[in-house]
Parts: sequence; structure tokens; C-alpha cells
Amino acid sequence: MRTKLQLLLFALLLGSILVDGATQHRRKHRRRTTTTQAPVEDEVMNMLEADEIAEQDAEVTVEDGRNEVGSKRQGLLRMDPCIDKHCDAGRVCKAIDDDTAECVCVDVCDEEVDPRRKVCTNHNETFGSDCEVQQMRCFCNSGDARCRSHKYQHVHVVYYGECREMPECKEEDMADFPRRMRDWLFNIMRDLADRQELSSHFLKMQREAETNHTLRWTNAAIWKWCDLDGEPHDRAVSRHELFPIKAPLMTLEHCIAPFLDSCDRDDDHKITLIEWGKCLQLNEEDLEDKCDELAETKNSDQ
Ligand SMILES: *[C@@H]1O[C@H](CO)[C@@H](O)[C@H](O)[C@H]1NC(C)=O
Ligand SMILES: *[C@@H]1O[C@H](CO)[C@@H](O)[C@H](O)[C@H]1NC(C)=O
Repeated sequence: MRTKLQLLLFALLLGSILVDGATQHRRKHRRRTTTTQAPVEDEVMNMLEADEIAEQDAEVTVEDGRNEVGSKRQGLLRMDPCIDKHCDAGRVCKAIDDDTAECVCVDVCDEEVDPRRKVCTNHNETFGSDCEVQQMRCFCNSGDARCRSHKYQHVHVVYYGECREMPECKEEDMADFPRRMRDWLFNIMRDLADRQELSSHFLKMQREAETNHTLRWTNAAIWKWCDLDGEPHDRAVSRHELFPIKAPLMTLEHCIAPFLDSCDRDDDHKITLIEWGKCLQLNEEDLEDKCDELAETKNSDQ
């Protein structure tokens, strides 16, 4: 749920900045980026609120349950072999006996009535929700009869919303894209600082970016690159790790996919910090790998 919220937040921020990014001149005064309202953004906002309400409800239910059953329940929980078991997306834990548990495919995904929950896959096929995509992949990788076709063994979400015809990324848009992307990263970082959602290390880099013109774009670029390099934390951003900036933006920004592809210059499916800097048209000398420290503060935050 948290990750989904973060994705939506990302889309929201991008919507607010990139939608009018081309016409917006550099702001003289600090202003929260979320004040610009675009229709897309409203939609994302509504969805975000709905999620938050659902999450609060879920928490209340859990607490109620705990209060009712009390200490007896705690004893039972200790016996549950699913307690420490982590299952991948599309799978849930199932207890076999007191000591054994296994991950099995999600049996039924929640019915999604909201069309905005639909997703488009790498086969350019609309699925009802990301749960249904993960579930289908699970079926096809575990010999389940509900697997509709072999091709779904590697099915994954490419973007949110129904599959549609993607307008082409025009040459002049692409030419301007690195600048807008840099601007956007800087604004996202500033926004997170305003919301006090940056760790102290990130915050220091953000303040540097505000005061030192040389570091304005580079610090934001470094921060985002470190942030994207999640699991595995190997100093390279894989295609999979690009998902959080790609999937929510594809329908808003037609140049995001070709832009991100262009970052991987040697086509080894990994984007190094130098490659990232180059495609954002930043100076190589200014880019310093500050991720070690970032990773530490990030981990201690979580
Ligand atoms: C993907 O599907 C949509 C909707 O069916 C269609 O309009 C579009 O042309 C398709 N795109 C590709 C690349 O086939
Ligand atoms: C800005 O940052 C650069 C790179 O770290 C540094 O060399 C320069 O001295 C800084 N300038 C100011 C005014 O602090």
C-alpha cells in the first residue's frame, strides 16, 4: 500500500510540474508545487485520498481485533508460520501446518470498479488491476490451469490506466526533455524538503542545491538516482528500478520512455550515475557518488 501511495504521489508531483513545465518560467519565490491544479492531478489526488481512507479503516479493524481477543490471540499468532513469511507480488502466504507455510497465487483479486485502477501490460493488454497481472504471472509460473497463455510468464505492468495509443515523442519535445526532467527533480526534492520527508543527509544536499547554483541540478539528480537504486543496491539503476518514474508518467509524458532508454548508453540494461548525469546533460565533474551515506540514512529512516 505504501509503495502505491508513493507512486501516486510521484505522478501527482510530476503532473503538477511537467504539465505546465514548458511554459512556466523559473519561479522567483518559493511556492509549493502542488498548488497548480490540472485535471489529471485532481484524479490522482482523489485516488490518493480514497487509499488513505481505506488504509485508516484497515488499521482500525486490526486494532479492534486485537482488543477483542487480547492475549489469547497473541499466543495464537506465535504459532502462525506465516508471520515471518514474505511472499512476492501476486502471492499470499498459506499455512500448511503449525510450522510450515508456503506462498500460493492470490486466489481472487479485489474487484476494482474504478477504471483508473486498470493497467496496461507489456503485451499492450488492459488488465483490471495490477493484482490481476501479478496473479496471472503466478498462475503461469506455477503450472496452474488458470494460466491463460504461456506468454504471461513474464507479463508485467508498463503503465497505469487502460492501454491506449501513445502519441509519439516529438523531436523538439525530446530535445527539451532533459531540462524539464532536471527542473522536475529539483522541484520534487524541494517539495519533499518542505514536507519534511527528506532524511538529514538529503536535506543538506537540498539546501546546498538551493544556495549553490552549481549544485542545483546535480544534487537533485544524484538524490533521485540513489533513490531509484533500491533493491539490489548495486550502484546501477536497472530497468526494473525505473518503474516508479516510468509507469505513472507514461500517459502524461510521451518522452519519458525514449528518454530513459537514451540514458542507458551502452545498452547493458543498467544506468550508472555517469550515464544518468549525461542524459540529464549535467557536468560529469560535478557528479559525485554520495549514495553510501544516503543508503545509511535511508535505511535508518525505515
Ligand atoms: C495498444 O492498444 C491500444 C488500445 O487497444 C491501441 O490503440 C494501440 O494502438 C496499441 N498499441 C500498440 C503499440 O499496438
Ligand atoms: C558550490 O559547489 C561547488 C561544488 O561542490 C564548490 O566547488 C563551490 O565552491 C561551491 N560554491 C559556493 C559559493 O559555495
